[in-house]
Amino acid sequence: MPDSLNQLIDSYDSTLPLEQASTIPASWYTDKRIFALEQETVFGRSWHFAARIDQLTNAGDYVTTEIAGEPVVVVRGSDHQIRGFFNACRHHAAAVMTQPAGNAPQMRCPYHGWTYSLEGELKGTPDFNDVCNFNRAENGLLPIETALWEQWVFVRIEKASDDAITLEQFLGDLVDRFRTLNISNLHWFERRTYTLNCNWKVFVDNYLDGGYHVPHLHKGLDSVLDYSEYTIENGERFCLQSSPIVSGDDQEVGSVRSGQRAFYYWLYPNFMINLYEGVMDTNLVRPITVDRTQVIFDFYFTDVSDTAREHNRASVEIGDRIQKEDLDICESVQRGLSSRAYHAGRLSVRREAGEHLFHRLLHAGLAGGLK
Ligand code: FES
Ligand SMILES: [Fe+2]
Repeated sequence: MPDSLNQLIDSYDSTLPLEQASTIPASWYTDKRIFALEQETVFGRSWHFAARIDQLTNAGDYVTTEIAGEPVVVVRGSDHQIRGFFNACRHHAAAVMTQPAGNAPQMRCPYHGWTYSLEGELKGTPDFNDVCNFNRAENGLLPIETALWEQWVFVRIEKASDDAITLEQFLGDLVDRFRTLNISNLHWFERRTYTLNCNWKVFVDNYLDGGYHVPHLHKGLDSVLDYSEYTIENGERFCLQSSPIVSGDDQEVGSVRSGQRAFYYWLYPNFMINLYEGVMDTNLVRPITVDRTQVIFDFYFTDVSDTAREHNRASVEIGDRIQKEDLDICESVQRGLSSRAYHAGRLSVRREAGEHLFHRLLHAGLAGGLK
């Protein structure tokens, strides 16, 4: 007899300190009901990365995406404002914008040609003259809350209640910390997308293990990080893992991972920002199904001119190599999580405080969803 959803959520004790805590139960990584509840709560009710601002430079620039299972379009209007909408036509629900990104003078639905302005108002409805009680003004694209932070556009799917927090409140200390990091000097260079046969939380757990796996899994990266000095700092909804950089044996890695320290920021639930000197990459972890996940890497550099191209490419390739090492282990973990032999595991006090924070925030998100 399967446990009820309530029992599944209650089987994780979020009150235990790290020394006594276990991971979330294995079933949270395999149960479709948990996946559906996560979409509704964890993804539907908090702020999420939707696009880079550099994709939306001019009026009419747009990006489509899917968040919490909802089709989303983010677009820069004629008034230069960035807005978000549900990308579902008010006529018969087709996606209005069908490309991942582009520029358009207006948003035209490919199905029956309804057109919406860049501000979302319904403008054109072919062959619709004799329809009674149809108010065009009430049939614009439904808006989604949108806010900007640093180089990124964030959206929140569920319409905020009066006490819902702003993006700035959601980010907390990160706002001030990033002000001093000057990442506006970094320019987008390339995007790489990976698909993994694992639950999205396996990838996040792997990221948040405080470097625990680095000496074992990433020998090249390990040679340039001072693993013993690795620090882990939890904020309200973020974790900062940081390591001093040393000159290591792996010349290939060393030449593209330089500077004093590496900073790895994770923002609940699924966005990571990795900073080295003159290099940044972000990882967006997108759930596809309960055991399938897409991870989008965006690479940024201070210098993106043609002369820097080769160096930048080499840096992206290093990221690619590290990612492939992570990919295999994540798929191995997913298989183990489905085994009758595994239910939950304990956490390293020295290394896995970030994972503990992630699991407690998840529990709070899911439990809030059962109210
Ligand atoms: S569904 Fe968009 S015009 Fe009919
Ligand atoms: Fe890794």
